[in-house]
Amino acid sequence: MPDELLHLENIKKYFGLRGGVPWRQAQAVKAVDDVSFVVRKGETVGLVGESGSGKSTLARVATRLLDPTAGRVEIGGVDVTKVSGRKLRPVRRKVQMVFQDPQASLNPRQSVGTILTTPFRAQGIRPTKIQLVELLEQVGLSAEHLDRYPHEFSGGQRQRIGIARALSVQPELLVCDEPVSALDVSIQAQVLNLLADLRDELGLSYVLVAHDLAVVRQVASRIAVMYLGTIVEEGPAAEVYDHPAHPYTRALLSAVPVPEPGAVRDRIVLTGDVPTPISPPSGCPFRTRCYKAEDICSTKRLVLEAVAGSNEHKAACYLPEI
Ligand SMILES: Nc1ncnc2c1ncn2[C@@H]1O[C@H](COP(=O)(O)OP(=O)(O)OP(=O)(O)O)[C@@H](O)[C@H]1O
Ligand SMILES: [Mg+2]
Repeated sequence: MPDELLHLENIKKYFGLRGGVPWRQAQAVKAVDDVSFVVRKGETVGLVGESGSGKSTLARVATRLLDPTAGRVEIGGVDVTKVSGRKLRPVRRKVQMVFQDPQASLNPRQSVGTILTTPFRAQGIRPTKIQLVELLEQVGLSAEHLDRYPHEFSGGQRQRIGIARALSVQPELLVCDEPVSALDVSIQAQVLNLLADLRDELGLSYVLVAHDLAVVRQVASRIAVMYLGTIVEEGPAAEVYDHPAHPYTRALLSAVPVPEPGAVRDRIVLTGDVPTPISPPSGCPFRTRCYKAEDICSTKRLVLEAVAGSNEHKAACYLPEI
């Protein structure tokens, strides 16, 4: 497909696989376990799920910061799974990452100017001061900030610097890993608005990783829901919000406040802990906490299948809600 910016196919990422010995492999953390995922031009895809579901790992594989254990990563139609070093540069430029904690992801000893210059240099380019100032202005900062250091900024401003750094190489897709969860609620909205403005101005696409479904709801055109290393549901944002098919999605959404005054959603409280990703349950990974689970759910792992009459909305469930 020409408009596919990112195409992940059957991605697995297992941690702690040392050597080829079978008993070590049995201990591996299956952080991402067979995920296929596509982002097309113009989309903002919200990637949601509880802590430990594998969102950050998937984001890092997508940006080639991590090598997948198995599967294929395509960026702009080019297979980059095995590409590394110098050859990776031109493709990697297209997909940039924005990290959760701007404090930790910016080097405290580097001035903003140096921080913004680094990605250019990695591409073999020496930026002009005008280019750097333009970048700062794009994210609502200005020339006077070039010589300052990260500790001189507020959390929201630091995240703006992180975004400017990602924009420096003119990417087409930004993968933002919880870009606002370290910020105050009032600042969160400003940063989300900035991302939306940049989308309109620069024609960017996004993958937006978030715990908070309310955050994703504001901006996402499509939603993918992760549980224990797999995507259990995906589809157009409005459909997933209004008609969740997977019981896990329903449970997640039931915890989100409803915008209309007076409206209430039945709250579904999930019981039990998330199972360990070292040995996930057989069949549906969610069955041990699911309020609908029956015997059939333990039989075979399901793939995502179209939900009632829609070919965009998909869920992996034996007993979907719709
Ligand atoms: N480098 C690593 N080595 C070993 N295990 C890891 C590593 N990175 C992540 N994991 C494990 O992989 C699983 C998925 O982690 P990941 O950080 O991708 O989840 P997440 O959905 O981003 O969670 P959170 O919402 O808390 O950020 C977790 O069980 C985690 O402990
Ligand atoms: Mg994470």
